[in-house]
This record gives sequence, structure tokens and C-alpha cells, in this order.
Amino acid sequence: MLDLTNKSILITGGTGSFGKKFVEMVYQRHPNLKRLVIYSRDELKQFEMAQYYPQSNYKSIRFFIGDVRDAERLKRACEGVDIIIHAAALKQVPAAEYNPMECIKTNVFGAENVINAALDNGVQRVVALSTDKAAAPINLYGATKLCSDKLFVAANNMKGSRDLRFSVVRYGNVIGSRGSVVPFFMEKRKDGVLPITHTDMTRFNISLEDGVEMVFHALEHAWGGEIFVPKIPSYRITDVAEAIGPNCEQKIVGIRPGEKLHEEMITETDSLNTVETAKYYVITPSTPTWDVEAYMKAFNGRQVEMGFKYNSGTNTDWLNVDQLREQIREHVDADFSV
Ligand SMILES: NC(=O)c1ccc[n+]([C@@H]2O[C@H](COP(=O)([O-])OP(=O)(O)OC[C@H]3O[C@@H](n4cnc5c(N)ncnc54)[C@H](OP(=O)(O)O)[C@@H]3O)[C@@H](O)[C@H]2O)c1
Repeated sequence: MLDLTNKSILITGGTGSFGKKFVEMVYQRHPNLKRLVIYSRDELKQFEMAQYYPQSNYKSIRFFIGDVRDAERLKRACEGVDIIIHAAALKQVPAAEYNPMECIKTNVFGAENVINAALDNGVQRVVALSTDKAAAPINLYGATKLCSDKLFVAANNMKGSRDLRFSVVRYGNVIGSRGSVVPFFMEKRKDGVLPITHTDMTRFNISLEDGVEMVFHALEHAWGGEIFVPKIPSYRITDVAEAIGPNCEQKIVGIRPGEKLHEEMITETDSLNTVETAKYYVITPSTPTWDVEAYMKAFNGRQVEMGFKYNSGTNTDWLNVDQLREQIREHVDADFSV
């Protein structure tokens, strides 16, 4: 059992969608934290979050304004911290294409700063969030997250004798997240027309709760250098349109720059180092500091077959229209109806 009693946690991007869900769940399960530091840039988002978590009731919570690009500030914020959850990122694909260096500074240099802050402050566990767009990336956002993943995996080679493990959690589209297809179609259905990029397009689906569960899993079980990938269902974009607007016209508008027809979380090449366990796939580091056979034994895992890839288009687990509606009610809008 994961025991966070008296632990100090810092979460970069703590005011984002993932961050807020993490804070909610960590307080439900581990109310006896020593310190929980929310680290992000915008004071308004922190002010609003502080209304939900008043210090009178949440004695361990702290709000630090800071940028992950600012190595000095991050290092100072990590003093006395045991665990870092790295969720801060720039993640809008078109904005990253248009402002590439900004995305590189936050997602790549920011990752390096997190690693150095961990190495210099006696931090014991670091879990970084990745995305399916980092596997065989075709856009700059995905490429920066792949760089970030590589930095965190390789950081385990620099830790020396420290009791410190870096690991990565990689997952796909979060249902209902800002800028994603569900809120977009919910808005568009008022016009009676739903824009479809391509009739064959598919995506993986995960809830924020399951994303947070994976981070807890990584905190408890990581040996260092793993990329954890959840076993999750896929959906067809046309089924999401049918679920939200069954009477709407589906208008084909063409695939957008930087978009894939299907997302991938484990490429054929990754599969050479991939272990399957009951709930997760684990991409093990190509130069692990531990024995992969022992790892498989410890987690009842097995090496995946040669040529395996985990792709939203060839997934064996699918959400149908009714299940999508249930997901929307459960995770996005309890009053949703068609
Ligand atoms: N949402 C998805 O569908 C999805 C899917 C797969 C993976 N992910 C990954 O999950 C992580 C969290 O995503 P999310 O959906 O929670 O994103 P989000 O809602 O956009 O939140 C991003 C957070 O990062 C902070 N931030 C941004 N730039 C920063 C910087 N330079 N320094 C410090 N803080 C910064 C933001 O606050 P300020 O703007 O105030 O700084 C905010 O708190 C990201 O790493 C993302 O790549 C997301």
C-alpha cells in the first residue's frame, strides 16, 4: 500500500486539469501529508484553487508561483520535498507548431530543471506525465514530450547512490479535457453540424481519475526508468459524434496539420523493451539499472510479442455509442442527454 504519511509532495502544473484531480484524490486517500506544494505561473488559477483548499482545513497545502523554466526558483521550491509530480506542460498542438521554442523551453528545459531540482534536494520519487503523442511524434508537442520522457528515463543513470527513482506515465486523450473533442461537440451540436476530420479517426480514452491512479501506481511500484502505459479502450470519432448529436449532420472537414488518424502509445520498436502486466504495459529502459527478468517476476509480467504495437486503431477494446454516453455522464456532465 502506498503510504504518503508525513511526505512532502510538489506538483508542477498543480492548477491544471490533472493537477486538480490529483490534489482531490491525494487528500481523499492520504490526508496526513506533511506538505503539498502547487507550483505554477498564474496567480488567478492559484487564487481560485485556494478557495477550495483553505489553509484552515488543508494545513499542508502551499501555493508557489513559479515557472518550470526558472531553475533557481524550482530548486528553492523543492527544498525538503520527497516526491515531485511533473504535470506542467504546454500541450496545445497548434500553439506548439506556431511557437516552437516556447514549447521546447517549457516541456524540454522545464523537464531538465525538474530533474536537477530532484537530484539536488534529496527527492526520492519523480513521476512525469507524458502523452500518446510522444510515441512516434509527428508534431512539435509530441516531439517535446518524447524528449522529456527520454530525459526522465535517462535521469536514473545520474542518480548515483541516491534513493531516487524517475518514471513516466504515458496516456491518451482525457475525456472532457479542455480543447478535446467531447466539449467541442457538446458546443457544436447547438448548430446541428458536427465537424469530422476523418471518418476513420480513432483515439484512446482515459478518465482523469484513471490518470491519477497510474501516478499512484508509479509512485508505489516504479523501479526507475519505466514508461507506464495503461490498457484502455479506443473510440471512433464518428461514434462520439453519434453519441452527442445523433440528429446532427456529420460534416467532413479534413485532418488538421499535426494530427494522426490513429494514436499510438507503444511503437513496434518500443515493443522490444515492453513488458505486459495485468493492468499496464511497461516500456522498460533500454539500459536498465535493474534486471528485467526479476522485474517480470516481481509483477507477474511477460515480454510482449515481437512486432506488437499499441495503437488506437488496432486496439481490441472499444467504447460503443451507449458506453460513450455513459462516460460523458460520469466524467463530463451528469445531466447530459440526447
Ligand atoms: N489533457 C489531456 O488530454 C492529456 C493527455 C495526455 C497527457 N497529458 C499530459 O498531462 C499533463 C497535465 O495536463 P493537463 O490536462 O492537466 O494540462 P492543463 O490543464 O493545461 O494544465 C497545465 C498546468 O501546467 C501549468 N503550467 C504551464 N506552463 C507552466 C510553466 N512554464 N511553469 C509552471 N507551470 C506551468 C499551468 O498553470 P499556469 O498556466 O498557471 O502556469 C497548469 O497548472 C501534461 O504534461 C500533458 O502533456 C494530458
